Amino acid sequence: MPKLRIDYHVVADSAALAEAAAEHFVAVTAQAAAARGRARIAISGGSTPKAAFQLLADPAKPWRARMPWDKLDLYWVDERCVPPDHADSNYRMTREALLDHVPLAPERIHRMEGELEPEAAAARYESELRNSFRLEGAETPRFDLIALGMGPDGHTASLFPHTAAIHELGRLVTANHVQNKDAWRITLTWPVINQAASVFFLIGGADKAAVLSEVFTGPRDPERLPSQLIWPSGGILTLVLDKAAAALLPATDGEGRGVLERER
Ligand code: 6PG
Repeated sequence: MPKLRIDYHVVADSAALAEAAAEHFVAVTAQAAAARGRARIAISGGSTPKAAFQLLADPAKPWRARMPWDKLDLYWVDERCVPPDHADSNYRMTREALLDHVPLAPERIHRMEGELEPEAAAARYESELRNSFRLEGAETPRFDLIALGMGPDGHTASLFPHTAAIHELGRLVTANHVQNKDAWRITLTWPVINQAASVFFLIGGADKAAVLSEVFTGPRDPERLPSQLIWPSGGILTLVLDKAAAALLPATDGEGRGVLERER
């Protein structure tokens, strides 16, 4: 039975979490660019990554200069079905925190078109992935890095509990209606996420401690806890956490590092 190794890195607070995330983004992106001449990364939205994006954009901080912007292609893990200038748009949050401040060429920014009808937006993004990764047949894109968040309900990307997207295996991108938000989302499907060379969760805050412990140490119940669907094909998953979110995980070593193992 393939095991999953979960490496978790715990830092003191939200400011340290943003710095750890910025460091992780730069380290993995630079390594991919050095090894393969390019780095294709997919980012999540929500509130947690915003502070990390602001650090990546800040010329007074070390990360902006270390990021290989000329070799980076940026994609999204998911998007709300709203126009790109809508307050809920993941693209808008990323543009304001990051894209407006860094030398990333427009053709390297692969936006999910949340303004379209959900199914059309999903189909267009699937085509964008097929074209930009030059996929053939049933090939799945292999991102160099995928950054995920987790909601207090155990969702990740826009894979929400008891929603259709959890069962979508045949597509790269799908539209997902989220009943309890009465809203449509576009999301990468979990097989695409698991194909990535490196996947990390960026999670902070006491409100995530219980669900985080359930997801990574409790019984498997992916219908109720879709974050449990994330099982990278390389067998390693990284968690970048603040102390509040990690409160119910086993204690870390003196460096704030810990390891969990899961059986399928
Ligand atoms: C989104 C995200 C989503 C997010 C979680 C956590 O579109 O909202 O992609 O999956 O990562 O909801 O959000 P917070 O970082 O705001 O807690």
